[in-house]
Amino acid sequence: MEALDRYIQAHQDRFLNELLDLLRIPSVSADPKYKADVARCAEAVKQRMVEAGLEKVEVCPTAGNPIVYGERIVDPAKPTVLVYGHYDVQPPDPLELWDSGPFDPVIKGGLIYARGSADDKGQFYMHVKAVEAMMKNGGLPCNVKMMIEGEEEVGSANLGIFVKANKDRLKADVVLISDTSMIANDVPSINTGLRGLSYLEVEVTGPDRDLHSGVYGGAVANPINALCEMIASLHDADRRITIPGFYDAVVELSKAERAALAEAPFDEETYKKDLAINAVRGEKGYSTEERSSIRPTLDVNGIWGGYIGEGAKTVLPSKAYAKISMRLVPDQKSATITQLFQDHFVRIAPPGVKVVVRPHHGGEAAVTPIDSAAYQAASKAMEETFGKKPIPTRGGGSIPIVALFEAELGLKTVLFGFGLDSDNIHSPNEKYGVFNYFQGIKTIPRFFHHYAALER
Ligand code: BES
Ligand code: MN
Ligand code: MN
Repeated sequence: MEALDRYIQAHQDRFLNELLDLLRIPSVSADPKYKADVARCAEAVKQRMVEAGLEKVEVCPTAGNPIVYGERIVDPAKPTVLVYGHYDVQPPDPLELWDSGPFDPVIKGGLIYARGSADDKGQFYMHVKAVEAMMKNGGLPCNVKMMIEGEEEVGSANLGIFVKANKDRLKADVVLISDTSMIANDVPSINTGLRGLSYLEVEVTGPDRDLHSGVYGGAVANPINALCEMIASLHDADRRITIPGFYDAVVELSKAERAALAEAPFDEETYKKDLAINAVRGEKGYSTEERSSIRPTLDVNGIWGGYIGEGAKTVLPSKAYAKISMRLVPDQKSATITQLFQDHFVRIAPPGVKVVVRPHHGGEAAVTPIDSAAYQAASKAMEETFGKKPIPTRGGGSIPIVALFEAELGLKTVLFGFGLDSDNIHSPNEKYGVFNYFQGIKTIPRFFHHYAALER
């Protein structure tokens, strides 16, 4: 490993510049106007995978954005690690809140500022560089397959189809993903769970046109007022979700499991200060960490309707809209929860309005084992580079493909993330630590080494 560390050290400027080049490509999957950039990014990823020493590298077209696939089989008798990541990024809006251009990466105070720096270009590219470093220093200790997709941020629908159609090609022993965060740079941790998701949009219609709010106000249901009442009723005084059946499938953690989770260091004062809030708020009976990981949620992500221009316009609007997400936990099924929401929301509509619920995408929650050879290898690898054994934690975000890897390929995942919650992913001024980037590049080869050596 010493030669490998020296190699990484000797090539660090190039490793950093290559990442910056990738970050300059605005590969936003949510907005069709970036289609050509997304395609260009896939080609760039392919090129880098070839240079790193991967074989059979291919840009695989899908009905949406392409998937980049490559592999290096050193010995069919050895285990195979399937690395997954995504080269697509979230939209950069609101642009005015960025201190520098989202696609003009700058390094300030040891942090790489750009959209996608942490989520997920900076993280998946660590694997490409780790493969290069291993190839140049004795070769890979086991086989690697690498699949980098371009639609994670919009639900991975086409990746699901690709996985089902390529089960043979994707045969492996474990999935390795760097797309999550750790507790802190001096408190390494490994995510052992992700939440599921049900995302939908609601449309509430009152009268068939906007009305004068003086002439009609008071006598006709206002769809914005109605939508707000309906949304407010979705939580009770204990901040529990009121949709009938919502909690039916929820797996409650045992006392011991909750105690283990509570071991992770967490300071609520720092948390509040960091977010500029004067109090936390959530489901009664659960801690902040539990509320944001092992408990399901319902949040409005956007709400609009009526007059939102300059000044005042007295209008009783015809329509109101909201985008709503529910984060799910094992064993809630995304499709079931979407249906429960739909039935309930239509039922609670007050007289005088019509409600339409349009499901967007969804995904299932996932839990990853900590008693597996792969987890042990990841834990050992991190212990070597951080000087501390990583703490297992449950994450709150979603990577829907993880549940699908298990269902379709029978594979468990190790969530080998090196980001931090403070990286501002999906937010203005997204950043990723130069330290975290190189720490990942150094730790990943150690994972391969331990995983190949451990008995499975
Ligand atoms: N990398 C994130 C998920 C994540 C971030 C998990 C931090 C744990 C910690 C991923 O790119 C993401 O943003 N996923 C989406 C879901 C998707 C279906 C749009 C999410 O969680 O909102
Ligand atoms: Mn991601
Ligand atoms: Mn994301």
